[in-house]
Amino acid sequence: MSVQSVVRRLTAPDIRARKGGEPIVSLTAYHAHTARLIDPHVDFMLVGDSLGNVMHGLETTIPVTVEMMILQGQAVMRGSRRALVVVDLPFGSYEGSPQQAFATAARVLKETGAGAIKLEGGSRMAETVRFLADRGVPVMGHIGLTPQSINTLGSFRALGRDEASAAIILEDARAISDAGAFAIVIEAVSEPLARQITQEVAAPTIGIGGSSACDGQILVLEDMLGLSDRVPRFVKKFADIGPAIGEAVEAYASEVRARSFPAAEHTYAPKKT
Ligand code: KIV
Repeated sequence: MSVQSVVRRLTAPDIRARKGGEPIVSLTAYHAHTARLIDPHVDFMLVGDSLGNVMHGLETTIPVTVEMMILQGQAVMRGSRRALVVVDLPFGSYEGSPQQAFATAARVLKETGAGAIKLEGGSRMAETVRFLADRGVPVMGHIGLTPQSINTLGSFRALGRDEASAAIILEDARAISDAGAFAIVIEAVSEPLARQITQEVAAPTIGIGGSSACDGQILVLEDMLGLSDRVPRFVKKFADIGPAIGEAVEAYASEVRARSFPAAEHTYAPKKT
């Protein structure tokens, strides 16, 4: 009997085929345990370089390395069976040339077993997106607010709110869709612009601070669970588990101090001889 899983994972072409159809559901995941919890509910999970902020407390995603992405990508693959897993290429690992991007993407796909990569940038990355797509690397684009550009953007703020910047972002979307991106994350842009991009480009759009008209949505898991201190306007807290964790740890601490934990049922009796 085959030991291979009978569950078929969703693929980049499956996501691409959802353009204009049932909304695509996605969240970030960095660990095996969170991947296991969200796997039945999402179509793809993103091992985002936001792990630098969320897991490591970094101010920006700039210091995140390929090795960090691979380690967490492997964990997420172990924890999931059904959803497509997409891994972010971190800053500095792909922008130099299409060849650099291919070498990094190939390493990430080989070492994690994930089904696709994501990279940031619009028109300037179109040649790279085509280079990768032509060589068997499914590419998810990311336009609008691109956190890896923080040092040139100056701050994290919504974009595309005036005509000139909206036109640039629309062109970014067209360029990477035409270059073969199988989906495009649109982050923190004006709602009508996200709607317009969704109507006008062939690739499915995945909104985060975009529009409910996008072909799908993504949020950072820890943000929507209420585990993050500061969240952008576009985050809705679907739960607030931070206080529940605090209460559980407080109860544990007081039982340890009172020596009421571990109780008899949590300890081992000697074997009967
Ligand atoms: O790194 C990340 O988590 C992302 C999402 C916010 C789309 O890129």
